[in-house]
Amino acid sequence: MEIIHLSAECYPIAKVGGLGDVVGALPKYQNKLGHVAKVVMPAYHNKFIQENEFEVVYDGWGKLGFHNFTVKIFREMTNKLGFDLYLVHISGLLDREMVYGYDDDTERFLAYQIAVLDWMAQWEHRPDVIHCHDHHTGLVPFMVANCHQFKSLCHIPTVLTIHNAQYQGQFGWDKLHYIPAFELWKSGQLDWKGAINPLASAIKCAWRVTTVSPSYLDEISFKANGLEDLLAQERSKSFGILNGIDNEVWNPQADPMLEKKYNLRTVDAGKRANKEALCKVFNLDPEKPLFTFIGRLVGEKGADLLPDIFYNALIEYNGEINVLVLGSGDSQVEGRLSQLKEAFPGNYNVYIGYNEQLSHQIYAGADFLLMPSRVEPCGLNQMYALRYGTIPIVRRIGGLKDTVIDIGDGGFGICHDQSSVWDVGHAIGRAYELYVNAKEVKEIRKFIMQLDHSWDKAAQQYIHLYQI
Ligand code: ADP
Ligand code: GLC
Repeated sequence: MEIIHLSAECYPIAKVGGLGDVVGALPKYQNKLGHVAKVVMPAYHNKFIQENEFEVVYDGWGKLGFHNFTVKIFREMTNKLGFDLYLVHISGLLDREMVYGYDDDTERFLAYQIAVLDWMAQWEHRPDVIHCHDHHTGLVPFMVANCHQFKSLCHIPTVLTIHNAQYQGQFGWDKLHYIPAFELWKSGQLDWKGAINPLASAIKCAWRVTTVSPSYLDEISFKANGLEDLLAQERSKSFGILNGIDNEVWNPQADPMLEKKYNLRTVDAGKRANKEALCKVFNLDPEKPLFTFIGRLVGEKGADLLPDIFYNALIEYNGEINVLVLGSGDSQVEGRLSQLKEAFPGNYNVYIGYNEQLSHQIYAGADFLLMPSRVEPCGLNQMYALRYGTIPIVRRIGGLKDTVIDIGDGGFGICHDQSSVWDVGHAIGRAYELYVNAKEVKEIRKFIMQLDHSWDKAAQQYIHLYQI
């Protein structure tokens, strides 16, 4: 099959969170199965584009309402990512440093979607499926099916993967003229609650809808930022496929970002060396259990609870634990997390910002990784933690529920039910008691490192889905 993945992010080209990791890995694993999976994404102004070689495969122009834009599509020439990569360059709109966060994101991602379809409409052949990821590509299923200028593409099946239904990309009907001409009586397919809603439109128009874990699929019929009824209605074409992880990138035995590489046999010494290196940089004590958090500092991740959670734990265990946080996001949360440094020097530290290498070092050097998420469609951090022998402490929700089993239920992690300071505090207490039993911790580490969360299975599940 030929599969075209459309996404705003793809690791290592541009990554803000897990979407980038997924789109940087799934196509590679689909290619390994003998298919041809390609990624077509925006060309941002970043290091990847400056440091790699490309050829121009399309040079044209597109229309966004009354505005014309020029388009160049570049193909990465070495195939070093394990799949064909195409970057859509639209000067003045996409060629910026950040992926998201601009006032004209609606215009940017619409222009990208229109440019991709203009290009594909010129191909002599048709791919077998267009796989759209999240709302930035959510108008593709509607445009493919309905816009006159893309008529030649109308029989291509489209699949939407919802990585996070919290973000929907809504905009007002005053921007309807941005969308290339279609029969106006079809406008209802764009609408949700009085606005043009790209995610809702994709849920209505895509041939199949997937979520990134089975539990998240169950949850969104009840909680999906206003889309509950629509998702319940479209349930028969929806499937929950658990994300995998890229075992080549996330491999403690070969990870060049670690202080010391390790495997099942050398895990105790390996983790110890990584922990010591981390503790040295962040002025912590490697003898104490190291609790960590990595992620976007937003409400979905329960980040606003972290300052109180850590404050209470550091007081309760009276200097006997260490905490290290890596993240960025809400400025108030960033400020409160930074303040804790003064109160607990030697026991607590935080790195505000995005740092890929540090994240690898933390997965390797930590004893425990917390994820007190309010919403977690899948979550990759817990799977990386498992692979690096770090015990996850997670709320039982979404993909966390599908990947972590509590020690009390014969499993290997620590689970709690609520996103609350008290519940997480209790979980930290259980982890502290566990840490004292070094033998059990060693056994759990070895066990979790062997759990198989690689993409092999999910890549196959997607292929199956395209064919039914
Ligand atoms: P989400 O996509 O909702 O942010 P995921 O758990 O799916 O959550 O994926 C998060 C990804 O982003 C992981 O690869 C994680 O290591 C990475 N990440 C998050 N915050 C940071 C950060 N501040 N520095 C480095 N990596 C980060
Ligand atoms: C989203 C979700 C996260 C998921 C990731 C990759 O960002 O918030 O839970 O792991 O997408 O699918």
